[in-house]
Amino acid sequence: MKSIHVEALQKPFNVTIDNIASDKSISHRCAMFSLLSDKPSHIKNYLTAEDTLNTLSIVEQLGAKISREGSNVTIVPPLNLIEPKNILDCGNSGTAMRLFCGFLSSVEGSFVLTGDKYLNQRPMNRVAVPLRSIGAFIDGREHGNKAPLFIRGAKLDSFTYESPVDSAQVKSAMILAALRAKKTSKYKENELTRDHTERMLKGMGADLKTNSEGFIEISPLTKPLNPLNITVPTDPSSAFFFAVAAAIVPGSQVTIKNVTLNPTRIEAYKVLQRMGAKVEFIETENLYEPIGDIVVKHHTLKGVEVSENISWLIDELPALSIAMSIAKGSSVVKNAQELRVKESDRIKSVVNNLELCGIEFNEFEDGYEVIGGSLKKAKIDSCGDHRIAMSFAIGGLLCGMDINDTDCILTSFPNFEDLLQTLKI
Ligand code: S3P
Repeated sequence: MKSIHVEALQKPFNVTIDNIASDKSISHRCAMFSLLSDKPSHIKNYLTAEDTLNTLSIVEQLGAKISREGSNVTIVPPLNLIEPKNILDCGNSGTAMRLFCGFLSSVEGSFVLTGDKYLNQRPMNRVAVPLRSIGAFIDGREHGNKAPLFIRGAKLDSFTYESPVDSAQVKSAMILAALRAKKTSKYKENELTRDHTERMLKGMGADLKTNSEGFIEISPLTKPLNPLNITVPTDPSSAFFFAVAAAIVPGSQVTIKNVTLNPTRIEAYKVLQRMGAKVEFIETENLYEPIGDIVVKHHTLKGVEVSENISWLIDELPALSIAMSIAKGSSVVKNAQELRVKESDRIKSVVNNLELCGIEFNEFEDGYEVIGGSLKKAKIDSCGDHRIAMSFAIGGLLCGMDINDTDCILTSFPNFEDLLQTLKI
């Protein structure tokens, strides 16, 4: 099992980073959505991390021809998807498993989706229940809630569904199912979640629109979609570790290049701004989504309350909690019960590790309060969760840190440790 030893930085840094991991959400979708076209898709800057490489293998098992040179990928879709001879391994990725549930529910054949020991403990009924209600056949362990999941493709009915959970994975699974349903379907969420699926499918020619009551109306496909021709932007969730680094190390500054500035993805940067850090967004282009650079400069941080637009910063809360732990005063995270069903129970893994670092906290069912103080060096248990490992590595820039079980970082950000080293120079 790998571990990381971080030493405290001796001086401030001022760096521009142009090789942070590409966006994970968009990369998964590029691979999957290429199967909805009848022409080759060309994807530059595909995320070549474990999670998204697993998705690419699944797409290949479904019949696509894939050629890859580094992070440039061409996907030639098959005329008809084929029934794979083997199980489909989603590794650690909830996004892959849940989106494939929606995608495969209506494809002729049988499919087994499995994952690693963490993914196979995560709830799948949030997609399986609405999919079953429109005719999908999905079964699995624990009464169909846990992977390995068995799917037998079926004809799906159209639907009107108001989701009880604000989740882009659930929304995307249902949209993918709707593309092959009998008639127009309607999907509604309480709070807009990341909308890459809608933007990309519309860009490929799908008929998706949001009506005056806030329902996304999805028409079934009548012909194959246009292929994707896309450069995947930098992942703002991965970049955020370096944003926090700049915000907490006195005198430091980071410029992160070519990040998606999709408003559903950059809320955590705005929270950092509310805490006192200097944050600037510079839009440079718009391809499916606004893209540009983000500059973050250190400033003394103050406590903050985070209780709205939670789905817009859910992946960044572990890193934000590092900023909260050194802020003046207390910070509160509320309405974030979804943290409990991520790659680890992130409420537990954040507060338990903060405690090891000498930080006082209060734990709630749907969040936590962090009493700002000063971090001290500790032995961190990543709980097999990439974002916990990377968050505490960033905390270590102030006081040194030993982080155990860091192989998980490879699921989303293979060059994280190399980039961390560059802050020393
Ligand atoms: C994702 C959606 C979010 C997020 C995950 C990626 C996606 O999950 O936490 O890392 O790509 O759709 P939920 O939809 O479960 O909130």
